[in-house]
Amino acid sequence: MPDVHVLPTLEDAARAAVEFIVRVEAESLGGHGEFSIALSGGATPQALYELMASPLYSGKLNWPRWSVFWGDERCVPPDHPESNYRMAKEALLGRVPVDPARVHRILAEASPESAATYCERRLHRAFHRCVEPTVCILPIPSFDLVLLGLGEDGHAASLFPGSPALAEKTRLAVATQGPSGGGRRITFTLPLINAARHVAFVVTGAAKAEAARRVLRPKPGEPVPPAALVRPHRGTVDWFLDAAAGSALR
Ligand code: 6PG
Repeated sequence: MPDVHVLPTLEDAARAAVEFIVRVEAESLGGHGEFSIALSGGATPQALYELMASPLYSGKLNWPRWSVFWGDERCVPPDHPESNYRMAKEALLGRVPVDPARVHRILAEASPESAATYCERRLHRAFHRCVEPTVCILPIPSFDLVLLGLGEDGHAASLFPGSPALAEKTRLAVATQGPSGGGRRITFTLPLINAARHVAFVVTGAAKAEAARRVLRPKPGEPVPPAALVRPHRGTVDWFLDAAAGSALR
């Protein structure tokens, strides 16, 4: 069952999420000496990333031990206003001492299929030190933490309602179609997300209240939103919402 944390304001929700990240990072470093995180995209996490990079928290995190991926990316160049990489670079990664060799950008400017395949190779190399995943039978990488947002249609990462990507059982990342015929995307698949030790949703704003309710308090007969399929096999799921996004949960 998800742990749901509803905080009064967006700032309170971001702070609670950063405190959670500090705890999970410490647990991961104590457990296996590294911290692997998949960043979420869109607009919501910007406040979270800026808070992590602020003097309040940046000294509490062991940045050189971070291995950074993205849970999804839009198929645009890395300097495009829509790029999740660009947002995270400006709000966080360009302001803290992460090791550039451990920042694994999705090469979304390439063809979507090759970008997804390259993302998978980077995952195996980062988690298993295996260069040729095609010749090794490798376990699914288990992230210490996957950050996710929530779309108003109940999507998470770029797993949209009705997407064939929702049925993917073996691949770690695939190319998908964006919302309502929007541009192509690259997304982690449910097998990869559900192999995580911890998943944290950060959701703010009244526009997300009904989607959050459909995931966390579903009514009989309602279609299951993609975000409700995020059920880590051995991991935890935490939700950090502000009062507006949590207003339909009461
Ligand atoms: C993306 C995201 C996506 C996002 C939700 C919420 O690339 O857009 O990864 O899953 O988390 O769409 O987006 P907002 O935070 O912009 O509302």
